[in-house]
Amino acid sequence: MGKIAEWLYERVPISGEQLAELTNEPVPNHLKRWWFCLGGTPAYLFVVQIVTGILLALYYQPSTASAFESIRYITEEASFGWFLRSMHKWAATLMIAAMILHQMRVYFTGAYRKPRELNWMIGMSLLMCTLLIGFTGYSLVFEQLSYWGATVAANISDNIPIVGPLGKQLLLGGDEYNARTLSRFYILHAAVLPTTLMLLVILHIAQIRMHGVTEFPEPDDEPSAPKHFNFFPDHMLTELTLGLVLMIILCALAVTLPATMGPKADPLTTPEVIKPEWFFYVSFRWLKLFSLSFAVISSGFIVGAMFVWPWIDRVLRKVTGIEEISVYVGIVGTFLLIGLTVWEAVVAH
Ligand code: HEM
Repeated sequence: MGKIAEWLYERVPISGEQLAELTNEPVPNHLKRWWFCLGGTPAYLFVVQIVTGILLALYYQPSTASAFESIRYITEEASFGWFLRSMHKWAATLMIAAMILHQMRVYFTGAYRKPRELNWMIGMSLLMCTLLIGFTGYSLVFEQLSYWGATVAANISDNIPIVGPLGKQLLLGGDEYNARTLSRFYILHAAVLPTTLMLLVILHIAQIRMHGVTEFPEPDDEPSAPKHFNFFPDHMLTELTLGLVLMIILCALAVTLPATMGPKADPLTTPEVIKPEWFFYVSFRWLKLFSLSFAVISSGFIVGAMFVWPWIDRVLRKVTGIEEISVYVGIVGTFLLIGLTVWEAVVAH
């Protein structure tokens, strides 16, 4: 052992074998297919968000007087500011899309069932946290749609029974959007929510390490063929390739479709059309289809049911005797999700 290695070993007494043991989790063969390892994708994109977010924060000023101007400066004057902003925006979009795809993979393969129910709930918390980061980020630009989007969201919160009005007060720092609001969005977007997300990711990965990923027998495998391969370096290489492809897609999107700016927020002029970001289209269309209180309560019910889905699934399978009942529910849910999103995207109001 060299002198430096010896010095280090005395202070951090972990041997090479112990380190290999720690990182070399055997991975089931089905994880050689990229759609089974979509979980790594949101993790990559989250790192991109942190790096680009820190760089944007060097210029961003969270006050109603200067937020819009600071974003204009980033977009039009700061070196590569437009690129950083576009990467941040597209990585957010891809992160949410990747999470939905990962969740669908987990759902349709039944990988949330015993003993992984808690990890499914951690995953649902990750999804909620990411959506909130998206919402608060959108509000920081202080353009018309950020201002009116936040106002609509605060009014929706007001309709949530019991905790809603308090939630609105906490979010806005008063009865309506005011000089304190933007700094609240900023602290949530740049500190509270990303820290929460990071802690949740640690819990999520810890649970994966405790249980391993779900085993799916390959139908045409020889019974004697090995059923696992090494995490390091085999699976690591799959993840790195995925990350590289992702970075190419991300850069291409940022360069060809860079982030733009709408008109500055004007509290006195309600825009003719208020639209949130695409990932809220489904909830927005739902709100327009029903009365506000019904839409809010039913949305809460649906999200609550998604949280405890592993147990609902168990009861449904027992009662109906249909083993794949969750697949049918999932197909209906997916069509509803896509249908409502496309509907909201194509109509003006
Ligand atoms: C920041 C977001 C997320 C990250 C970084 C992440 C990461 C991962 C990773 C790396 C895996 C290992 C297998 C794979 O790659 O698919 C995994 C598995 C899993 N994830 Fe996620 N995930 C996230 C969000 C979610 C969401 C939204 C859900 C569901 C609501 C979820 C539920 C699960 C479950 C139950 C497993 C175990 C799957 C199995 O055993 O096959 N995750 N996650």
